[in-house]
Amino acid sequence: MKTIHIGLLGCGNIGSGVTKLLGEMSASIRESYQYELVLKSILVRDLTKQRPEYVDTALLTADKDKVLRDPEICYVVECLGGEHPSTEWMCEALRAGKHVITANKMALALHWRELHEASEAGHATLYYEAAVGGAMPIIKILNDSLQANRIDKLTAIINGTTNYLLTRMTDEGLDYLDVLKDAQALGLAEPDPTADVEGEDAMYKLSILASLAFHQHLPVSAIEREGVTHITQDDIRNARELGYHIKLLAHATNTAEGMDAYVSPMLVPIMHPLSSVNGAFNAVFLHGHACGDMMIYGRGAGSAPTAGAMVSDLINAILQTADDQSPQKLARENEDPVPMMSDRVSAFYIRLSAQDATGVLAHVAASLSSHQIGVKALLQPVERAKEGAQITILTHPASEKSVRAAIAAFDKELVRVMNVLRVEAPVV
Ligand SMILES: NC(=O)c1ccc[n+]([C@@H]2O[C@H](COP(=O)([O-])OP(=O)(O)OC[C@H]3O[C@@H](n4cnc5c(N)ncnc54)[C@H](OP(=O)(O)O)[C@@H]3O)[C@@H](O)[C@H]2O)c1
Repeated sequence: MKTIHIGLLGCGNIGSGVTKLLGEMSASIRESYQYELVLKSILVRDLTKQRPEYVDTALLTADKDKVLRDPEICYVVECLGGEHPSTEWMCEALRAGKHVITANKMALALHWRELHEASEAGHATLYYEAAVGGAMPIIKILNDSLQANRIDKLTAIINGTTNYLLTRMTDEGLDYLDVLKDAQALGLAEPDPTADVEGEDAMYKLSILASLAFHQHLPVSAIEREGVTHITQDDIRNARELGYHIKLLAHATNTAEGMDAYVSPMLVPIMHPLSSVNGAFNAVFLHGHACGDMMIYGRGAGSAPTAGAMVSDLINAILQTADDQSPQKLARENEDPVPMMSDRVSAFYIRLSAQDATGVLAHVAASLSSHQIGVKALLQPVERAKEGAQITILTHPASEKSVRAAIAAFDKELVRVMNVLRVEAPVV
């Protein structure tokens, strides 16, 4: 029987879930693998804070060195969150030869290179399955199972909070702010929801996923980002009438021309598998040249699913390294500047508030047509006419630059642009 000492950084939602699961799993790990897992120290900020009963408070410390400088501790589970000091502390642990397990997408996306360098310097491995998609084993699938594929497209719902908000807006006809308040009261949205609703969280996760899928580091700065705060009931209803649901999608493509990556609310065809991913669930839909279309679906957050992914990473780390101490080689993504696509093509949803006057529709149609944009569908719900007419246009796939130019050319005296959203292509 070999004893394995583990250090935990942070004991909040996820860290306490890790302690609980470690307690539950230790007997079966002992039996199956002959390893005795010992949680040795737990770093927290506030030693006086009330902890769940399954946290052994005798292990708590406010001294980071009790974890980072303890030579017995070979595995560090980082559950602090945020960019600093978690990045520095993970790097310190890696450089000291300790394997690190983390769920911290922000630190990974923003400090990918430093973490990789620290891992190489210390001959230690960084495991981060829980950083994207909670319980979904998407990192392992991209790193291992799909190695023989050239992945050219990845579209994902990877922020549970926004998916929950949009699902309730769709199912219950509620306004964004009402659902947000409710979600905050239920603990499903943060008191400051900015990182979720402005698409930042999804952007960090997309940077990690696309870097692995395309074997080319995709920095956060290369990802265009738009949140969901401007989505109204009018958009939700219009989309449904046109045969779509609105979802916050994280989108990345890799073509001969270059990469393209963005996070934005999009109309998703009701028949598309991502359209039925509801509530706090996450899913990644991807296309590889050998595997074709594939979707991975699961619980994207929460203490138990995330802690489960972290403890699975910990067990994998121990199985890969505890006996021969030769760490798993971290796939190193190409760090050269990413060639980005200069334009993208998709269908567009355009919602306008227009003067109820003759010639308005003709003006809009002429502007679109002069930019080679075809109209696929048009909605003008009479019952929703507030001041003037509400016109919603669904275009055929067109160059995004042309669509933006056509919209910029609309006569502002005649039409006000209320919302413009991209439309996800149907699965063929
Ligand atoms: N919550 C989720 O559903 C979820 C899902 C996926 C991934 N994640 C990721 O998991 C990580 C942890 O999230 P969480 O929700 O568990 O956060 P949390 O509840 O805020 O817990 C953070 C823990 O870290 C400790 N801590 C923070 N800064 C510290 C410092 N400078 N020194 C010592 N201790 C410090 C806190 O100590 P005190 O307890 O003393 O304050 C707390 O125990 C984040 O990277 C997050 O993105 C979370």
